[in-house]
Amino acid sequence: MSELEGRTVLVTGAARRIGRAIALRLHAEGARVLVHYGTSEAEAREVAGQCGGAPIYQANLERVDEIRAMFARIGAGRQPLYGLVNNAARFARAPVLEITESDWDSIHAVNLKAAFFCAQEAARLMQSSGGGRIVNISSMGAFLAWPEHVHYCASKAGVAALTRGLAKALAPRISVNSVAPGVIPFEEREDPAIQKMARATPAGRPGTGEEIADAVVFFLKASTFVTGQVLQVDGGLGLR
Ligand SMILES: NC(=O)c1ccc[n+]([C@@H]2O[C@H](COP(=O)([O-])OP(=O)(O)OC[C@H]3O[C@@H](n4cnc5c(N)ncnc54)[C@H](OP(=O)(O)O)[C@@H]3O)[C@@H](O)[C@H]2O)c1
Repeated sequence: MSELEGRTVLVTGAARRIGRAIALRLHAEGARVLVHYGTSEAEAREVAGQCGGAPIYQANLERVDEIRAMFARIGAGRQPLYGLVNNAARFARAPVLEITESDWDSIHAVNLKAAFFCAQEAARLMQSSGGGRIVNISSMGAFLAWPEHVHYCASKAGVAALTRGLAKALAPRISVNSVAPGVIPFEEREDPAIQKMARATPAGRPGTGEEIADAVVFFLKASTFVTGQVLQVDGGLGLR
């Protein structure tokens, strides 16, 4: 039996792509998945169906009041929250001299601010029910210099720092770790910039959502002795 059997785990941005792969993998592990989505309702319903009729939560994560309302609903349920996977994010490409204040704010509102407030709300529930596991999805953009994604990279470096700070603050009952994916393309597989990064990946190929889900499951199953870590799942892209 999997250590995740019957455990309740919320995945943000679970309707599509990497989040969907994480949700499906958690369901296969026997976890009780909670599917969050922002705008992709039809896809969220499909994922929830594939996860055995999982509960669905809609929230615009830019809004802390919507985050709090979502966790209030989760906390009102009978099952204790064991895990949070902070997966939802925005990605944008812009020349650095053209990035506006609103570009900066919209990236950070979801990638960093929402990750913090989701973790805070999750931790409140976990503290009252014996502990838990938080996994933040960062990015290799936190560690590599991507000149057309400076605001995204800064937000993801923030996620790595957030992971370490929260790990210390929430120990010993809650572990906080992070997975930093390399190139994981879906519909953008043919994009020349993606193909260039895939060619620069020592593994000789881009990664898959399932490979990111493997790493997330590792942290969700690990004891609380594994905390504050950022695991780069990037086919060696970050090696120099
Ligand atoms: N794909 C890659 O190559 C790659 C590489 C490195 C890191 N990552 C990281 O891995 C994670 C998943 O990547 P991905 O490419 O699968 O992500 P994605 O498709 O860009 O975004 C995942 C989901 O985030 C949700 N989201 C965005 N803004 C939101 C908001 N304001 N409120 C609520 N939900 C919001 C969206 O949900 P809805 O569709 O429901 O609106 C979206 O489906 C992200 O943290 C990303 O930064 C990905």
